[in-house]
Amino acid sequence: MFLLIPAAGVGKRMGAKGNKLLLKLQDKPLLAWTLINAEKSQEVEWIGIMGQPYDFEEFNQIIEQLSLTKPVTLIKGGDTRQQSVYNGLQALPSHAQKVLIHDGARCLATPELFDRCAKALDNCQGLIAAIPVKDTIKIVDENKTVIDSPNRDYLWAAQTPQGFNVELLKQCHNQGLELGWEVTDDAALLERCGYSVQIVEGEETNLKVTTPMDLTIAEFILNQGNGDGG
Ligand code: CTP
Ligand code: MG
Repeated sequence: MFLLIPAAGVGKRMGAKGNKLLLKLQDKPLLAWTLINAEKSQEVEWIGIMGQPYDFEEFNQIIEQLSLTKPVTLIKGGDTRQQSVYNGLQALPSHAQKVLIHDGARCLATPELFDRCAKALDNCQGLIAAIPVKDTIKIVDENKTVIDSPNRDYLWAAQTPQGFNVELLKQCHNQGLELGWEVTDDAALLERCGYSVQIVEGEETNLKVTTPMDLTIAEFILNQGNGDGG
């Protein structure tokens, strides 16, 4: 299975100086934990990381220190996650038929989750890891007046990995580009093109490290022995 890791963000909400994926959790950068878990997945065979070229030197150091057995390719990312994934898709080896996309910032996704998503891709064209939403969600208008409270039974919080047939995802990315769609995950492109996307049970510990508080929570989860692939 081919794995693309978007890692080209600037980490605005983290408020650190550079890319949040270079911040440390315990003794290793966030991105290292993502790679450790991908390395331990039985299904993942090839890893592409989309990053900004100014981060490549540090990315290479991380990769070297981990002595990964799987081939890793660095790919130039774009200004948005969508563009970064687009670039990643173009850089896949030509024989790649299926791909998992996994945010570098979800550094605690376990090898078992990668494997579960990879296997489920045998039976569908598109899937996402997701977990049931715990909060009651409100839809509001521009005045912050609540206009609806959707039934929670039908609400799932999307995570990554997300898995796709490569040709189909490329086609949906191209359509998105043509029509100017701006989306925050790849599944949304399939949905807009009218293709179905399946859910694979995600993990509560698979948080996207976005704010300083997430760092504290991720460190806590790691200290409990979850999310380090062991
Ligand atoms: N990402 C990317 N290319 C971009 C923007 C984001 O590859 N131009 C990646 C991030 O590195 C991250 C993942 O997409 O691994 C999810 O994005 P997010 O959590 O939003 O990270 P940032 O964009 O870095 O954070 P922020 O939105 O707070 O700036
Ligand atoms: Mg972002």
